Amino acid sequence: MSVPFSADAVRATTHDIVTAHASLEGPLLPILHAVQEAFGFVPQDALPVIAQGLNLSRAEVHGVMSFYHDFRTEPAGRHVLKVCRAEACQAMGTNALADKLKRRLGIDWHGTTSDGAVTLEPVYCLGLCAQSPAAMLDGELFARLDDDGVDEMLGGIGK
Ligand code: FES
Repeated sequence: MSVPFSADAVRATTHDIVTAHASLEGPLLPILHAVQEAFGFVPQDALPVIAQGLNLSRAEVHGVMSFYHDFRTEPAGRHVLKVCRAEACQAMGTNALADKLKRRLGIDWHGTTSDGAVTLEPVYCLGLCAQSPAAMLDGELFARLDDDGVDEMLGGIGK
């Protein structure tokens, strides 16, 4: 998927974000969130600016990013589908559900369908453990998901 921002725009915006957050205690996570908010993902060109601003190595910034599943390194599709992979949902069959979704969408975790419609992301507890398995599509929660529920959920976006 092509990146819709120039490297200069990414560097300038990231520099402003780093400056605005630099005095915070533990500024890295707020900065990464703000960069993702600005671009919809954390572009590669943002990493050296963040690293330099916080006196960290690029590897350290990258390590934090990959530890937290919330951060994207690529632009998301028009719809973001988050499927819970935490314990209660696993006990209620979320892995099989996710496998079906992956086959149906033709993508793996963190992938985006070739038409740019849907990005599939794992999430670790949506707070609906008693009604698992659960998922969230564009911020809307879906509980006790079964095949019919998946059809209904994806039907709304034409998938
Ligand atoms: S474990 Fe899936 S919603 Fe809590």
